[in-house]
Amino acid sequence: MVQVREQLAIEPMREADVPVVQEIERRIFTTPWPRNAYYRELSSRNSAYYIVLRREIGGHSEIIAYGGMWRMYDEAHVTTIGVRHDLQHRGYGRIVFAALLQAAYDTGARWVTLEVRTSNENAMRMYESFGFKVIGRRKGYYTDNGEDAIVMWSDSIYAPRFRRAYEANLERIEAEVKGLRRGVGPIRDR
Ligand SMILES: CC(C)(COP(=O)(O)OP(=O)(O)OC[C@H]1O[C@@H](n2cnc3c(N)ncnc32)[C@H](O)[C@@H]1OP(=O)(O)O)[C@@H](O)C(=O)NCCC(=O)NCCS
Repeated sequence: MVQVREQLAIEPMREADVPVVQEIERRIFTTPWPRNAYYRELSSRNSAYYIVLRREIGGHSEIIAYGGMWRMYDEAHVTTIGVRHDLQHRGYGRIVFAALLQAAYDTGARWVTLEVRTSNENAMRMYESFGFKVIGRRKGYYTDNGEDAIVMWSDSIYAPRFRRAYEANLERIEAEVKGLRRGVGPIRDR
C-alpha cells in the first residue's frame, strides 16, 4: 500500500539518474546492465522510452523504481523494470508498468512483449494481472545461470479484455502520480 504523505511522479530517465538506477538494479538483478547500456538507451530517443518513479517524502526526493521499453513498429518491448529492494510489493511496480503501457498507447503500439525468468513468479503475476499471456519460452536465455525466459505478450492492447485489465490496475493505484493518467484516456485506436 502506497503511503499517503508521499508525492509520486513518473519522469523520463535522465543521464544523471543512471547511477541511482544502477544502485537499485544491483540489489535486485543478478546481472545488472553495464552503465554504458543505459547511456546508449537514453540516446536512442526515437525508439527507447525510459522512466523513473520519483517520490518526495519528508522534504526528500528520491528515485525508487524505473522501467524501460523499446518501440519497434507495432510492438513495444519492455526491456527492464525494477523497484528498490526495500520497497517492493507496495504498488510501485504497478505504477511503473502502467506508465510503460500508457506510453505504448500514446506512441501507437499495437501490442507489448516482454521476457521474464521462469523463476520470477512475482513479476509474472503482475504481468498476468495486466492481461499478459505466456506465448513462448527461450531456452537458456539468461547466460548467468542458463535459466529459460518466458515470453509474454499483451495481444492487442486495444482489445476490451486488455483495456479492462489495464483500467483495473489503474484503479488499484491509490496515490496521485504525476505523469500517469487515470483511465485509458485519449487512446489513438488502430
Ligand atoms: C517485479 C517488480 C517490478 C514488481 O514491483 P512491486 O512494486 O514489487 O509490485 P507491486 O506491489 O506493484 O505488485 C504488483 C503485483 O505484482 C505481484 N507481486 C509483486 N511482488 C510480489 C510478491 N513479493 N509476492 C507476490 N506477488 C508479488 C502481485 O501480483 C502484485 O499484485 P497484488 O498487489 O495484487 O499482490 C518488483 O518486485 C521488482 O523490482 N522485482 C525485482 C526485479 C524484477 O524481477 N523485475 C522484473 C524482471 S522481468
